Amino acid sequence: PSPSPSPIVIAVPKGRILAEALPLLAAAGVVPEPAFGDEKSRALRFRTQDPGIELIRVRAFDVATFVAHGAAQLGIVGSDVLAEFDYAELYAPVDLDIGHCRLSVAEPADLAASNDPRGWSHVRVATKYPHVTAGYFARRGVQAECIKLNGAMELAPTLGLATRIVDLVSSGRTLQENGLVEVERIMQVSARLVVNRAAMKTRAHVFPLVEAFRAAVDRARAA
Ligand code: PRP
Repeated sequence: PSPSPSPIVIAVPKGRILAEALPLLAAAGVVPEPAFGDEKSRALRFRTQDPGIELIRVRAFDVATFVAHGAAQLGIVGSDVLAEFDYAELYAPVDLDIGHCRLSVAEPADLAASNDPRGWSHVRVATKYPHVTAGYFARRGVQAECIKLNGAMELAPTLGLATRIVDLVSSGRTLQENGLVEVERIMQVSARLVVNRAAMKTRAHVFPLVEAFRAAVDRARAA
């Protein structure tokens, strides 16, 4: 074994999933320094109780990029992101059973009252997920024109940027507060543990971590 290798880096998404990820990390034996769980902290890289493991806090879509390029060896990422990017370098061995939500098509409530999705032939959609969206509509024989946004998709219909949106729905509150209704579900989403395939082979500490996460999820399910 090589002497004192660089620490294993685990990429974790910021935002609402962080609160669900913290107990899971602890159950897997990864205990971060307190600033990690503090949304107000501006730090991006954090130590843990194990000098061989560090955490970084990045945007959900960027978790996949860091791990795919080997800048981080493991990560927590939504199945929505995995479907959108389809990185060959990523191996997703564990469904973490957190971050449950769905990727859905939504439209203004008045439009939903007056049209049937089965009659669509062409749709103009604002989304962070152009690849998944185009694939979904293509399989239904519907031509989709996607406008890529990185957030606040819900604004697009009222401002005339697009007729519909494809976005994550959890409680449904964001749709409701913006006058939209969910009309179709594209996929169920949950967070996955992802691993860089090369790191899995070359870094001895990666596999035991994967097993620790797997065991933590099994224990949480059994509880
Ligand atoms: C997501 C999503 C919706 C919202 C849905 O955004 O893009 O806007 O959550 O959740 P709800 O159905 O419970 O209202 P998120 O808050 O994760 O932040 P983001 O805008 O940075 O993606």
